[in-house]
Parts: sequence; C-alpha cells; structure tokens
Amino acid sequence: MPFTRLAPAADIAPERSLAVQHGGMSLLICHSGGAFFVVANQCSHAQEPLACGRVRGGMIACPVHGARFDLATGDALGPPAKDAIARYQARVTDGWIEADLPI
Ligand code: FES
Repeated sequence: MPFTRLAPAADIAPERSLAVQHGGMSLLICHSGGAFFVVANQCSHAQEPLACGRVRGGMIACPVHGARFDLATGDALGPPAKDAIARYQARVTDGWIEADLPI
C-alpha cells in the first residue's frame, strides 16, 4: 500500500502531537523519543479525541479520562481503556511524515 504524505515533520515539536484529517480519517501524528507515530485520533474508551493528550516517553495519555496508550503498538497501558487504538506504520521522507493508511 502506498504511503500517504500527512504533514511536515518540522511542524511537530518533540513530545507534541498534531491532529490531521485524511480521507475522512481523523489521525494524530505524535513526536516522541525522536520518532514519529501515526495513530487514530480516537480513544478506545469513550471514543473521544486524543488530540491535546500528553505525549511522553512513547506514550500518549487521553485528555478525557487519562488512559495511556503505547504509540508504537497502540496498546492500552492502563484503565479505563482496555482496547488498543489503531496505529499506522509511519516514516519520514524528504522531511514529511507519511503513513501507510488503509485508504
Ligand atoms: S475517553 Fe479516553 S480514557 Fe475515557
């Protein structure tokens, strides 16, 4: 599947995130620990947006009830979330963050 160009890597400071829309998908690009991750901008607990959640150490904390997710795997790391969030393979090409999206 071709990678989709989403945003300039320079637009996302370390330990920050950027919400983007693509093809009807709401995505969150996270920059943590020197790597970029692309995940669904939707918590698996109550389906609220993850944007504005704290990004630290390869994890994001949901801003609504505080569930934490591993950005590399999407796995929920603690309650109240039990299920993983969707994550997509990401890469940086020519200064742009790209993701392998299912669309
Ligand atoms: S909506 Fe994210 S932890 Fe509840």
